[in-house]
Amino acid sequence: MNGQPSRRCLRARRQVSGASAQLLARDSSVPKVTLVLDDNDLFYPILLSGAPPLCVRRRLPFPRAWDSLISPSGPPTRAGPPYFSWKAASMRLKDKVALVTGASSGIGAAVAARFAAEGAHVAVNYRPGSPKDRDAAEAAVASFGTRGIAVEADVSSREMVEAMVARVVAELGRIDVAVNNAGIEIKRGFLETTDEEWNRVLGVNLYGSFAVSQAAAREMVKQGGGGRLIYMSSVHEDIPFPGYTSYCASKGAIRMMMRNLCIELAPHGITVNNIAPGAIATPINQSVLDDPVAFKNAVTEIPLGRFGKPEEVASVAVFLASDEAAYVTGSTYYVDGGLTQQVTLY
Ligand code: BGC
Repeated sequence: MNGQPSRRCLRARRQVSGASAQLLARDSSVPKVTLVLDDNDLFYPILLSGAPPLCVRRRLPFPRAWDSLISPSGPPTRAGPPYFSWKAASMRLKDKVALVTGASSGIGAAVAARFAAEGAHVAVNYRPGSPKDRDAAEAAVASFGTRGIAVEADVSSREMVEAMVARVVAELGRIDVAVNNAGIEIKRGFLETTDEEWNRVLGVNLYGSFAVSQAAAREMVKQGGGGRLIYMSSVHEDIPFPGYTSYCASKGAIRMMMRNLCIELAPHGITVNNIAPGAIATPINQSVLDDPVAFKNAVTEIPLGRFGKPEEVASVAVFLASDEAAYVTGSTYYVDGGLTQQVTLY
């Protein structure tokens, strides 16, 4: 073998940083890298690094729940950090600057990671007051092979939104794509819903989408050259969800906002679209994933018979943000395993 290894085994332990693991994995003299994982924390940044042929071998202890995320073919059974296969990436967003709100976990985290793997410089927004979210956002940014920043902001605050967008432009140079993903839901019967609950849900989901996309669109207009607004709505922009009236009202309103803006912003070359996820394995659904009866009921409603993965939503976001979607505006893309089309007969 002339001292030339055909395969190298890299042991990722706490003291091996994600960055050095990426460097080793990118060493072109190493045709294949086998990564033996015995540290959960490192799994996520390394897989997101877009490394060349990478064979991941699992060692115990490693949460069994993540198996489905390692293997894209298996159905997900719980929320977890995003799985991303480097094979899916082809630099479709090279050097675009994107802001993704609510990106410290779930769908937002998967979108941010996938955007970075596609060559975008990504601002990862997280809510104030949560050290866990801040750490996750910072870890994600550190794992990107592109420039990225973690930005704290409550999207329901105009002041914080303006400061966040100004920071994105100051540090990343411009803004090409805004993914309005931050969202919350509160389960409460209509008769019991308080003003505080209603305003909180509408404040984050609807006002937040309005304020962030407006601040971003103003920058895009100033820059010239168009842009992309993507709203993470929900199947509940269209279908009812008893017990979640504030959530449905916010998502239905986002649908009409998107349709209006597609016309208003077209002269500026800004396209505007919604992604409507169905039941996706993210923290927002963890209580259903953990409850076998609720899980079975939920899955029964889904023609494809399983929950979706955040990465399956991220793929659609990549398309909408890319040049390939230049003529796509004013539409909702359902990523729901057929849930919206399901007719309950009995
Ligand atoms: C909600 C989830 C729900 C899903 C399908 C999503 O918008 O956030 O709680 O499971 O729609 O009903």
